[in-house]
Amino acid sequence: MRKYNVAVVGATGAVGEEMLRVMEEVDFPVAKLVPLASARSAGGTVAYKEEDVVVKELTETVFDEEEIDIALFSAGGSVSAKFAPFAVEAGAVVIDNTSHFRMDPEVPLVVPEVNPQDIARWRERGIIANPNCSTIQMVQALKPLQDAYGIERIDVSTYQATSGAGKSAMDELVRQMQEFFAFKLDESEHKKFPHQIALNVIPQIDVFMDNGFTKEEMKMVNETNKIMHDSIEVAATCVRVPTLRGHAESVTVTCKRDLDADAARETIAKGENIVILDDPAKSVYPMPTHCVEKNETFVGRIRRDIYRPNVLHMFVVADNLRVGAATNAVRIAQKWIEMETL
Ligand code: A2P
Repeated sequence: MRKYNVAVVGATGAVGEEMLRVMEEVDFPVAKLVPLASARSAGGTVAYKEEDVVVKELTETVFDEEEIDIALFSAGGSVSAKFAPFAVEAGAVVIDNTSHFRMDPEVPLVVPEVNPQDIARWRERGIIANPNCSTIQMVQALKPLQDAYGIERIDVSTYQATSGAGKSAMDELVRQMQEFFAFKLDESEHKKFPHQIALNVIPQIDVFMDNGFTKEEMKMVNETNKIMHDSIEVAATCVRVPTLRGHAESVTVTCKRDLDADAARETIAKGENIVILDDPAKSVYPMPTHCVEKNETFVGRIRRDIYRPNVLHMFVVADNLRVGAATNAVRIAQKWIEMETL
């Protein structure tokens, strides 16, 4: 089997580190691993398969010099905007975890469990985009319902962990909690979030748009429809909560046809990489603590609306750094290899 030279851009970050862990776990066919980051981290090392691999500085020429075949980007939108074209120019396929290329009509936006066929369009720009973390876990749970019942509308509220904003955001939560217990917490000291995150719940992720929704909420609207190839109404409220890892979502889905909760549960269970945790009598339902370092999406609290027989409610939880980012990117790369070697 052919092996590939793989670059991980942002290898020292929260998602980049997970990309390395997931590649190890699936025994990704790596010929050479090239971890890339800013000049700040260059010369340091990251662990891969019990070896310390030296981090290199991301430059315009590094993809060509290292003969990279697959470049996984997770170092922020502006880094992807500037450097992904150099990776493509050097002959690599770029799998980009940032929002920069997601809505470009020439860039496929892929969740392998939902629209793997779109990967075939990668040659148009040389780039495949990885969706927003909240969108990925939601469409995975909804795909079987879309196939079985058709979907008219989705109303979703999210409970998003601090790691979605990177390592320094997790540090900010931990620091504030330590300061709280030392009676030293200063509410005005926050950098990564618009307010104190410790012991708080913030109904704002990213900036507000003219329509009153935030950019994160509009990502869920636009990306869901691009991935599901549909015109579904989506209303999202994205909320940051003081957890470290694992996004939760309360999802209300209005279907085109009537459904019954048990049949819907069985339908959702057939989705790829979905685990049902739904035994309310025993207090069994998904929570962020269940999903850390897991590659599946957990679904529970599945119940039909008490007024409308075509409306279903559910709670969906997944590891945002894995399912919502690294695992999805690595699964895209695996499918890309499958397609290229057909
Ligand atoms: P570095 O460690 O050198 O700052 P997180 O999302 O956890 O904050 O991580 C962001 C990742 O993106 C890190 O690996 C970080 O590297 C990398 N990064 C940020 N800015 C740049 C840049 N301008 N060039 C290359 N890598 C960058």
